[in-house]
Amino acid sequence: MNRVSTRKALGEAHSKLILVGEHAVVYGKPAIAIPFPLKVRSIVEESSGNIMFESAVYTGPIDSMPMRMKGISECIKETLHYLGKPLEGLRIRIDSAIPLGRGLGSSAAVAVALVRSLFSFCGQEPSQRELFSFVQIAETHAHGKPSGIDMAAVSSECPIWFEREKEPIPVKTNGPLYIVASDTGRIGDTRIAVENVRKRYLLEPEKVEKSLEKIGKIVDEAKNALLNGDMYLLGQLLNRNQEELISLGVSDDGLNRLIERARNAGALGAKLTGGGLGGCMIALADSLESARIISSELMKSGAFRSWYFSSQDDSLYASQEVK
Ligand code: PMV
Repeated sequence: MNRVSTRKALGEAHSKLILVGEHAVVYGKPAIAIPFPLKVRSIVEESSGNIMFESAVYTGPIDSMPMRMKGISECIKETLHYLGKPLEGLRIRIDSAIPLGRGLGSSAAVAVALVRSLFSFCGQEPSQRELFSFVQIAETHAHGKPSGIDMAAVSSECPIWFEREKEPIPVKTNGPLYIVASDTGRIGDTRIAVENVRKRYLLEPEKVEKSLEKIGKIVDEAKNALLNGDMYLLGQLLNRNQEELISLGVSDDGLNRLIERARNAGALGAKLTGGGLGGCMIALADSLESARIISSELMKSGAFRSWYFSSQDDSLYASQEVK
């Protein structure tokens, strides 16, 4: 029997949730993000001919990728060039459990897993600087001028404090966080949401500046609430953050309905997460059981899907579909 041995390497990343501070982070304010245990894996194997790419979105040579995936092909090419590898003889498979365009950091997670797998294929591990510089190529194509919070969050194993152009800082939490994340089922276009805030800033600079300031203070208070394990205060801060996101024009009726429902079902606080205008919302609960109840109420209220988890371990629970 002939045995063909092919070299193979794996890179992984997880998704993320922005706890507080999205949008304001684009304007230099801080934000806090936490790891969310939905995973993506990139598997690189030796093959022959052109570099082939396989994913749920596109399968084929990297040079024929659709325009919206140009960032991914550029990221692959630049990484291989840096590693001194020719642009051929590889098969790259992306296996992702992270839904696209829901504010969960799917594009950054794919790029992080991809770069890690290419480095691993060459027997190397990227430094954080190397990782970010290649992931940035994909993210810039996907989001325009991202703050960088997504790539920092999906490559961190703990909650982070993030400020544009600065090193992310681990955030200490006293006690577990019980979080529900629910998907409206509608793709949220972060690029459009960021652009809407920018237009609003030009029209009403004072009002928007006030909102951004308030969000900056909320994030600061949230850091202390996490440090002190004061989940009741943290819940209120999520609610206050949501008020500001509404005033920035990035929430919508679908998100507002789920947020209201989560609060009525016992959440300590709830808000949208990520870019908004569709995508996901999060709710903070005081126990895993309460998170389970909130999550199942959200499914009954029309959420497309809903998860809940404790930040203490990696286990993620998905609420059942309501028939
Ligand atoms: O990629 P999303 O939808 O999780 O949003 C990223 C957070 C924003 O603050 C809205 C944009 C950014 O670049 O920071």
